[in-house]
Amino acid sequence: MTTTCSAPGKIYLFGEHAVVYGEPAIACAVELRTSVSAKSADAITISSDIGTTGLDFEVHPYVSFAIKKMDSPNVSIEINSDIPVGSGLGSSAAVTVATLAAINIECRLGYEKEDIARMGHEIEKEVQGAASPTDTFVSTFGGVVEIPSRKRLNLLDCGIVIGNTNKGASPKKTAKLVKQVAQLKEEYPETINPIIKTIGSFARQGEVLVSEKDYNSLGKLMNVNHGLLDALGVCTMELSVLVYAARNAGAYGAKLTGAGGDGCMVALTDSPRDVAAAIEKSGGQAIITRFTSEGVKQV
Ligand code: MEV
Repeated sequence: MTTTCSAPGKIYLFGEHAVVYGEPAIACAVELRTSVSAKSADAITISSDIGTTGLDFEVHPYVSFAIKKMDSPNVSIEINSDIPVGSGLGSSAAVTVATLAAINIECRLGYEKEDIARMGHEIEKEVQGAASPTDTFVSTFGGVVEIPSRKRLNLLDCGIVIGNTNKGASPKKTAKLVKQVAQLKEEYPETINPIIKTIGSFARQGEVLVSEKDYNSLGKLMNVNHGLLDALGVCTMELSVLVYAARNAGAYGAKLTGAGGDGCMVALTDSPRDVAAAIEKSGGQAIITRFTSEGVKQV
């Protein structure tokens, strides 16, 4: 038997970086998925775009830690992903969660989804040194979620376009940018603390706007959120070029998503093709997607 599970990536509607200081954020699963197949085998093998290895904590760290954590019999693992790696879309959480879920079913280990989310977070911490539980939680359960309360909000039905600068992809980038913001905050607390608090206020207002599906207002606040992330020093010119291209093409709003330092931006729009064309014309790679309520699932 072979078991295949897929898990989604995510975007932040509001609140990255401020969430590190206890402010609320809104994170949303998107219909870009990583599929992992697990099959009982004589020896452990892990196959992906990068190549085929055994248990290898350098080449396939997330999957290797997941196999180790589940203490399962030998399995062969095959990974296929739509999610750009290391670009702020939760690719590492998706591969970790999908691997845990596939092994869980294939080896009949009996873990619940809560266990998968918890173990996924532990693995991200082991590999990265630090990680918030946001990505693994959203990838496991799907939906539009307020963090840290884990409150599930209404699913949004408007289009999303992701713009990838195809630059700055690195799993170590998040830690570096979080540290950079911490240093700025320490140096200029009177200036930076109110910015962080204001970013937190977007998630509080966003909760109501999401329930009303008020895309105009959500878009306006996304634009302000982007400006404040820029003020925190985590934006780049390449990202802002894509953000402005999306807004000029009629998006309700657009902002960087994730840690920043290049990587990806996200636009909310009812005309995804126009916005995608504008992003591509400005040198980015556009991905049209949608919100999804489905977290990890067997396929
Ligand atoms: C990175 O995707 C989001 C940050 O807020 C860091 C975190 O929450 O762990 C920058």
